[in-house]
Amino acid sequence: MTKTLTIRRPDDWHVHLRDGAMLEAVARHTARQFARAIVMPNLSPPVTNVELAKAYRERIVAAVPEGAGFTPLMTCYLTDNTDPEEVRRGFEEGVFTAAKLYPAGATTNSDSGVTDVANIRGVLEVMAEIGMVLCVHGEVTSADVDVFDREAVFIERILAPLLKDLPQLKVVFEHLTSEEGVQFVESAGVNVAATITPQHLHINRNAMLVGGMRPHAYCLPVAKREKHRLALRRAATGGSAKFFLGTDSAPHAREAKESDCGCAGIFNAPFALESYCAVFEAENALDRFESFASENGPKFYGLPLNEDRITLERNGCEVPGVLETPAADLVPFHAGETLQWRLVD
Ligand code: NCD
Ligand code: ZN
Repeated sequence: MTKTLTIRRPDDWHVHLRDGAMLEAVARHTARQFARAIVMPNLSPPVTNVELAKAYRERIVAAVPEGAGFTPLMTCYLTDNTDPEEVRRGFEEGVFTAAKLYPAGATTNSDSGVTDVANIRGVLEVMAEIGMVLCVHGEVTSADVDVFDREAVFIERILAPLLKDLPQLKVVFEHLTSEEGVQFVESAGVNVAATITPQHLHINRNAMLVGGMRPHAYCLPVAKREKHRLALRRAATGGSAKFFLGTDSAPHAREAKESDCGCAGIFNAPFALESYCAVFEAENALDRFESFASENGPKFYGLPLNEDRITLERNGCEVPGVLETPAADLVPFHAGETLQWRLVD
């Protein structure tokens, strides 16, 4: 008999849906797997105010197949000049669910990001006051810090002092990649949580660099040593309510990744649940998959749990080597592999 797993419909607490033709190509995958998603604002130009977020939300809703029952949750891209009252208004009007801190220069389309958190002190004060979540890309950008250490150094230099200064601020440490990150989140207050991607649970840096350079295993923050991957697997599957699902699905055209200066980002949306499920099964923790995927996120954000259910079946799922779309050819995470679990439509 085929094994099945039925759980509350999950949400994705960190995704890049892009815009234009790429949005048309990728939104359906996220909408098929998830009820809601925290949509990243790093478009070009970025989503920095209420009007831009409303317009982007409409474009997303229009790009999702009818009847998908998918709700995009919008985020405000913080810059050195963000007006605290604009953030407050967006939150109170139900347009912004969260705001996103990109240290300037940390990743794709982060050039308009924040150069010093002191510059957004007023915004963060308002967010702490109204209980609005700050999503953080936790990497320093200084040239003197090794790319594999940038998350750990960010904690020391930026995040720990920030939380000391504003101990009430709700923070999601996005796409956690290090043992130091896991320890920090575990020992912080209940107002600090983290998302974990499927790729950081599956791969370490060898996947990127052994036997040839593998651009499709490259994302930011970059995958690290094996001990970090193991710490992340313990965190995700260990039952703590502080860790939840956030795919960081970040599509880039195949040729933009397979290039002299390949873009950072892994496109995992089409088989995200299948990918996570493989990890929970290997860790003997399938009974904890629902809390990670469907409960911890909404509870942290103060949003209702989804009431409908999805079912996964253990009868094999072949991941294609490439997805040809009108926007671009996209190479999905696990391209060419067979995963055991499969989301039933
Ligand atoms: C993201 C992208 O391409 O927008 N890339 C990535 O590697 N994750 C940006 C980000 O989340 O850092
Ligand atoms: Zn991201």
